[in-house]
Amino acid sequence: MLLKDRTAEADRVEAAECLERYLALASRSPPEPGASAPSAAHRNQACTASHFLAALRGDATAAAPAQYVAGLFDAYADRFDDHLVNDLGYRTPQMIADEIQRAAPCQAGFECCADLGCGTGLTVPLLRQLGVRRLEGVDLSAGMLRKARENYGPGVGYDRLVCGDLVDIFAPEGQGSPAPTFDLVVAADVFVYVGDLAPVLSATSQCLARPHGLVVFSTEAPPRGGGANEDAGRVPAGGFRLGPQGRYLHSAAYVRATAEACGLTLTRRSSVVLRYNGGKPVHGHIHVLRPAGEARS
Ligand SMILES: C[S@@+](CC[C@H](N)C(=O)[O-])C[C@H]1O[C@@H](n2cnc3c(N)ncnc32)[C@H](O)[C@@H]1O
Repeated sequence: MLLKDRTAEADRVEAAECLERYLALASRSPPEPGASAPSAAHRNQACTASHFLAALRGDATAAAPAQYVAGLFDAYADRFDDHLVNDLGYRTPQMIADEIQRAAPCQAGFECCADLGCGTGLTVPLLRQLGVRRLEGVDLSAGMLRKARENYGPGVGYDRLVCGDLVDIFAPEGQGSPAPTFDLVVAADVFVYVGDLAPVLSATSQCLARPHGLVVFSTEAPPRGGGANEDAGRVPAGGFRLGPQGRYLHSAAYVRATAEACGLTLTRRSSVVLRYNGGKPVHGHIHVLRPAGEARS
């Protein structure tokens, strides 16, 4: 092991021990005077600490805690668009739009699209240009959804926004209502917060229009020399890993196998640079899926 690697490993062990001590102390501390339970801020800190403890240990947790994701993006919402697009060279929505165009060049638009982890709505103008008639978004962060409403007014912006987990958009809207159907489902830079993709891909598959439904999303790829995530650790060949940045990296084989187990077929995968971190490329994949048995492109 190189000296630099030994130092990094020692730092990781020390950081993990600090987080373990913090979590042990936090679980023993009584609520603030006058409160019957720990405050939201307190719970949020504990969620963040346990997520990063899992990241430091390389534990394959199923997803980032909802409270951590909501807190992170609520705080980030006001500067998200400018920071991602202008500072980090974020182009994932455009790359997803290009893949949709490529997969369905002759399709006269889409009836109803679900934008999973829609954030502030960077995909909105691109999806409307592709002829999406009804557009629905879901996100855990109320702050990101507020920005989405500010960015795009009625008629252009989302026709429905759900504040909740990704799969909540697939639930029937009211008691006795049928499950919704989508002919396009997209997720841009969202599955970096979800390790186990089976629940969301299974729900997607169940609500996907057949035979023409289309699913397009990005994932962060396993580490590569010179890439921003080169120190993220080994991603199992057919699996995923929670990297030290608190984001998940998925192997291409894992995405394909999970999609297949959920009744979807991978029709195309491209290797891309999702954005830049500290001047280094963040390597990723854009996956294009169709209902199983209906593969066209
Ligand atoms: C990096 S942002 C991308 C936003 C948008 N898709 C875009 O490309 O600009 C990730 C978004 O996914 C949301 N998110 C992450 N995990 C989620 C989950 N399990 N359920 C719902 N939203 C989630 C976050 O709140 C955040 O707004």
